[in-house]
Amino acid sequence: MEVGRITGLKGKITVPGDKSISHRSIMLGAIAKGTTEVTGFLNGADCLSTIGCFREMGISIEETNDTILVHGKGMHGLQKPSAVLSVGNSGTTTRLISGILAGQDFDSKLSGDASLNSRPMKRIIEPLQLMGANISSVLRNGCAPLYISKGELHGISYTSKVASAQVKSAILLAGLYADGKTSVTEPVLSRNHTELMLREFGADIHTTFGLVEPSDTPHADRHATASITPCQELYSQKIIVPGDISSAAYFIAAGLITPDSEILIQNVGVNPTRAGILQVCIDMGADITLLNERTSGGEPVADILVRTSKLHGTTIGGAIIPTLIDEIPIIAVMAALAEGRTIIEDAAELKVKETNRIETVVDNLKAMGCDIMATYDGMVIHGGNPLHGANIHTLLDHRIAMAFTIAGLNADGITHILDSKCVDVSYPAFFDTFEELL
Ligand code: S3P
Repeated sequence: MEVGRITGLKGKITVPGDKSISHRSIMLGAIAKGTTEVTGFLNGADCLSTIGCFREMGISIEETNDTILVHGKGMHGLQKPSAVLSVGNSGTTTRLISGILAGQDFDSKLSGDASLNSRPMKRIIEPLQLMGANISSVLRNGCAPLYISKGELHGISYTSKVASAQVKSAILLAGLYADGKTSVTEPVLSRNHTELMLREFGADIHTTFGLVEPSDTPHADRHATASITPCQELYSQKIIVPGDISSAAYFIAAGLITPDSEILIQNVGVNPTRAGILQVCIDMGADITLLNERTSGGEPVADILVRTSKLHGTTIGGAIIPTLIDEIPIIAVMAALAEGRTIIEDAAELKVKETNRIETVVDNLKAMGCDIMATYDGMVIHGGNPLHGANIHTLLDHRIAMAFTIAGLNADGITHILDSKCVDVSYPAFFDTFEELL
């Protein structure tokens, strides 16, 4: 894909359904009793991997117009897959499904593409093994392919070093099949869609904040603990998936940095555990307004209005990081065009995403002429100089392709987004959405 400078992005758009909520709707629908109806489902490659895995385990999933029907077979209705479960590029599929598979009576193997098979899985293998699961890395390198066979699961209290919704969710989903209460404590609350949706499906799940024991752990008051008691049965639901704020982020940024622009992005999920980018935009001086704030399907939703703004640098770190972790590539692009210095810290998790996003962001912004430096847990950006066109090496990372498309639209010359088709992972119609704004 080639992009060049534009001005005047104007119009009303919607973005596809939330990726995290879409995955969970299929997973919980599959192990619930009855038919779960999902509207607004994200038809991106990652979520289709989740559908493929559950079909392989005997779950009938119908795709009609804009609704998905998941004919759940209850907590113990999954069948032994006859093939390796193919998880594609999807970390969420891999880590969450492992929690469910750990509680099954059959054995299974899952594997993904080269990027997925190099991402760290020890973070779920260890806690699931502590619960009594038989789960191992086939190549003994802490990565997928993973092999999972029948184990007796026990409730545990687990403290995770990272604030990761995927780790938390894997443990909670295994906790459904355990013989006692399971708790996961994380350093700060990560996205809580699993907890919210499990509750809707009838699970007994609670969240508390702060450490129970007096502790000198730094920021102990911010620790979040989710606890689940084992469950006999979950019950099918109607799920309305809101627009994905991680996809909206590209148009938020485009509206703010592209001259003479005004964009209304309708029906975006603004769950506080996901919406850190809104605060960052405000801190950078953005003209951004939330309209029509409401609750839909148990999740907070709003329309987001953005207008071209003169942005300035900021510092982003600490507890806000998990609430915007997937938006850091596009935040870095905004920072490159904002006046002054932006520091992004406490974001070492970027190194284990679809690519090492500290490297992919820094290398590509440098190629466009930005004054940027990688640090061990983030980056420092001296913004305000014009960007110029470059070859963008996405390394097949969808968020790099989309973030640098926005950069290219605000750079001199032509920017080539290599392997731009990788946007299919989370936003197949990404390039079409621009047509609505021209
Ligand atoms: C996700 C959690 C986050 C996020 C990913 C989706 C989820 O990963 O980066 O894109 O749906 O649970 P981590 O849990 O590894 O932080």
